Amino acid sequence: MHVLFATSEVAPLIKTGGLADVSAALPTALHEMGVDIRILLPGYPQVLKALPHLHVAARIAIQPGFPAARLLTGSLPNGVPLLVIECAELYERGGGAYLDEHGLDWPDNALRFGLLSKIAALLSCADTPLKWKPDIVHCNDWQTGLTPAYLHFAEGAAPSVMTVHNLAFQGVFPSQMVTELGLPAECYQLNGVEYYDNLSFMKAGLYYADHITTVSPSYAKEIQTDALGFGLQGLLASRRKVLTGILNGIDTSEWNPATDPNLVDSYDVTDISGKSANKRELQKRMGLHIDPDLPLFGLVGRFTHQKGVDLVLKIAPELIALPAQLVLLGNGDAEMQRTALGLSHRYSGQISAYVGFDEPLSHLIEAGIDIFLMPSRFEPCGLNQMYSQRYGTPPLVHATGGLIDTVLDCNAASLKQGLASGFVFHSMDTSSLLATARRAAKAYHDKKIWRALQHNCMLKDFGWNQSASAYHDIYTNLMRR
Ligand code: ADP
Ligand code: GLC
Repeated sequence: MHVLFATSEVAPLIKTGGLADVSAALPTALHEMGVDIRILLPGYPQVLKALPHLHVAARIAIQPGFPAARLLTGSLPNGVPLLVIECAELYERGGGAYLDEHGLDWPDNALRFGLLSKIAALLSCADTPLKWKPDIVHCNDWQTGLTPAYLHFAEGAAPSVMTVHNLAFQGVFPSQMVTELGLPAECYQLNGVEYYDNLSFMKAGLYYADHITTVSPSYAKEIQTDALGFGLQGLLASRRKVLTGILNGIDTSEWNPATDPNLVDSYDVTDISGKSANKRELQKRMGLHIDPDLPLFGLVGRFTHQKGVDLVLKIAPELIALPAQLVLLGNGDAEMQRTALGLSHRYSGQISAYVGFDEPLSHLIEAGIDIFLMPSRFEPCGLNQMYSQRYGTPPLVHATGGLIDTVLDCNAASLKQGLASGFVFHSMDTSSLLATARRAAKAYHDKKIWRALQHNCMLKDFGWNQSASAYHDIYTNLMRR
C-alpha cells in the first residue's frame, strides 16, 4: 500500500499546533505497520535547515500560474520518508508557515497552498515526475483542500482522504483564484468549491474527497450541526456516509514521563513520586512560591477564543484564592498575552505566565502541574489533555469534541469503576469553570481519590495503534473500489 500524506506542518521540523504532531505520529504508525507512506510538505526555511541532506528527485513546472519548484527527498529523524517542495519564491522567507512577522496571513497563501495541493495531486496522476506512485492521497486541513478537486478532474488519479483537524480555518480566497490556480471553471458552483462568492479550499476538500475523516467521533457529529459546522454543516451532513471520526493518538515515546529528557526526575505509574521534583522545579523556574501542597493549575496552548483562555484569565484571581497556583504558557491574541503577563506581575508568586512557544517548557508543565486546564469552546480532538493524563496530571475540560471522548468526569460512580480521569464542565461560563476548579482542588486534597485518579489517567492507552488501523481500513476500502 503506497500512501502520500500531504500536510502543511510536521513536528519536529515546523509546528504551530497539533496538526504537526499528528502529521509526524500517524505516518510513523502507518510506516511501522508496513505501509509505504511518504509525507509531502513545503520547504520552509526551518525545514530546509533541519534537513541539510535532501536529494533532488524531480523538477516541477506547472503551467500556468505556479512558479517552478523542485521535489526533494529525505526522511524524518525516525526514518519516515519525506518529499519536500523546494520553491524559494513561495516558501523561503522569514515569519511563520501561515503568517508574516506581524502576525498577518501571507498575502499569497492561496498560491502557496495551491502549489502544495497541486503537487500532491500531480504525484498520483499519469504525468507524475516520480517513479513512485501513491494508491491513496491523504490530505489534511484546508492547506491541502484543493487536492481532491484537482484529482477529481484528472486522468487516472488515486482516491483521496480529507482529514479535518479544525473546521474553523477554511482557506477562503477571492473567486478569481479559481482560474489562477488552474481549476476548471465548472467547479466554481454551490456543488463544488464556491462558498459565499469565494473559493474555499476546505469546501473543495470536503466536496470532492472520496472519504472524509475528522479527529474525534464527537467532533464528527458536531460539525454536522449549525453550532459547530462553520457554514459547512449541510455539506458534511450530506456526506455523513463517508465521514468517520477517528480519535488522534499521541507519540507515547516522546511523551513519556519515564524517559522525558525535559523533566528533572522521571516517574511512571508504578511510582509517581518523581512528579513532585518536577513541581518544585517548575515553581522555581516560573517564580512561583515553592509549595508542594497547593494545587498547581496549568494551561499550555494557543491564546485564542477557541481555547477559552479568556475564561481562565477572568477567573484567575478567584482560582488562586481557592487557594491554588496557576501557570500559563502560550501565545496568540495580543490582548490575552497582555492580560496574562499583567496577572503574572500583579499576583507574582501565585500566577506565572510565559508568552512564547517553548516545547521543553510544555513538557515540564505537563509533569509539574497538578491539574491541566483545557476549557475549549470547541476542540476537534486536543492533544494536551492526553499528554497530561499520561503525565499523571488530570485535565479539567469543557464538554466538547475530542475532550468528551478522552476525559471521564470524576464522580462517585466513575471512581468506583476505576474510569475517572479528570473534571468535565458543561456550561461555557466562568461560574461553571470556577465551580469545577473548586471540585478539582477538593479532590486534590483527598490523597486517596487523587492517587486513584492519577493511576486511571496513567494506565490509559493513548497510542496510535487502534487509530492507525482505522485509517488503514479506510485506505483498504478505497483501494478495493
Ligand atoms: P491545537 O492544534 O488546536 O493548537 P492541540 O492540543 O491539538 O491543539 O495541539 C497543540 C500542540 O501544540 C500541543 O503539542 C501543545 O503542547 C503545543 N503547543 C501549543 N502552544 C504551545 C506553546 N506556547 N509552547 C509549546 N507548545 C505549545
Ligand atoms: C487542530 C485542532 C486540535 C487537534 C489538532 C490535531 O489544530 O484544533 O483539536 O488536536 O488539530 O488533529
